[in-house]
Amino acid sequence: MTAIILDTDPGIDDTMAIFYAMADPNLELVGLTTVFGNVFTSDGTRNALALCELAGQDIPVAEGTHVPLVQPQHPPADFVHGKHGLGNARLPGPNRKPDPRPAHQFIAETLGERPGEITIVAVGPLTNIALALQHHPEITKTAKNVVVMGGAIRTPGNVSPYAEANIWNDPHAAEIVFSADWDVSMVGLDVTERIQCTPEDFAPMLTSSPNCGALMNEAAAFYFQFHLDTKGINACFLHDPSAIIYAQQPELFETVTAPITMRLDGDEAGRTVEDASGDTPPVTICIEPKTDAIRARFIKHLNSGVLP
Ligand code: RIB
Ligand code: CA
Repeated sequence: MTAIILDTDPGIDDTMAIFYAMADPNLELVGLTTVFGNVFTSDGTRNALALCELAGQDIPVAEGTHVPLVQPQHPPADFVHGKHGLGNARLPGPNRKPDPRPAHQFIAETLGERPGEITIVAVGPLTNIALALQHHPEITKTAKNVVVMGGAIRTPGNVSPYAEANIWNDPHAAEIVFSADWDVSMVGLDVTERIQCTPEDFAPMLTSSPNCGALMNEAAAFYFQFHLDTKGINACFLHDPSAIIYAQQPELFETVTAPITMRLDGDEAGRTVEDASGDTPPVTICIEPKTDAIRARFIKHLNSGVLP
């Protein structure tokens, strides 16, 4: 059993990751924490609560920061994820309320209750995780490890020729997370753009899980259209679910180990660079996915009918 806190900017592929995490019986979703990126944080919190309610899951949701650490905030990626993060899909306003604690406090206290047991899987900008490190430095010892969906090492970026969106949205936070003394793995565009799903992969969910499946398929349609318009493919990249699957089954990814630093500003802002020149500790970098096995695991659990 893998226990995770998912730090997320929900987001369509974040929704795929959240539903996958809820549906896989080998995974314990201990909590969701929200951050800006694909959406404003307030929309992300609303989406996370509404997704939990739709799925009938009593998982705590703690709201995170609304702004990056240093740089001005980039606008939300509404052309990728829709105005409020779920494409053109709409969910009723959730009845549940967020956990009263800010995300960084929720993360630190939850890790502290089960030291060494919980993986942080961060699939949005790393601001909450950096704040958790700044306010609660003991989390380098209480977290089992950290898996980051973000960055691009040997492949171009997706918001600039150099930068991947999550790192670009807060490179200063990424620098803090990647240079801390803990076990960090990077699941970046090098692998996530090579793991792709088609509309047919999501269709069975319409009958196996009618409520969540209807929402998932409607939201995914917007995401597929974005990929068709910009990449010419009738498929989508499986960014955020891949980070969870790495946390569960790292052997499905080939990796290298190297220190990573961030370009903090200029044309290359948000670029992740292999850089052994300083004293940054090495991190694990995914460079080659076992694509079929990763995709198969995702589809199997998403369509298993565990969700309503
Ligand atoms: O670059 C892909 C990442 O940016 C994914 O996490 C996506 O949801 C967006 O946050
Ligand atoms: Ca995301």
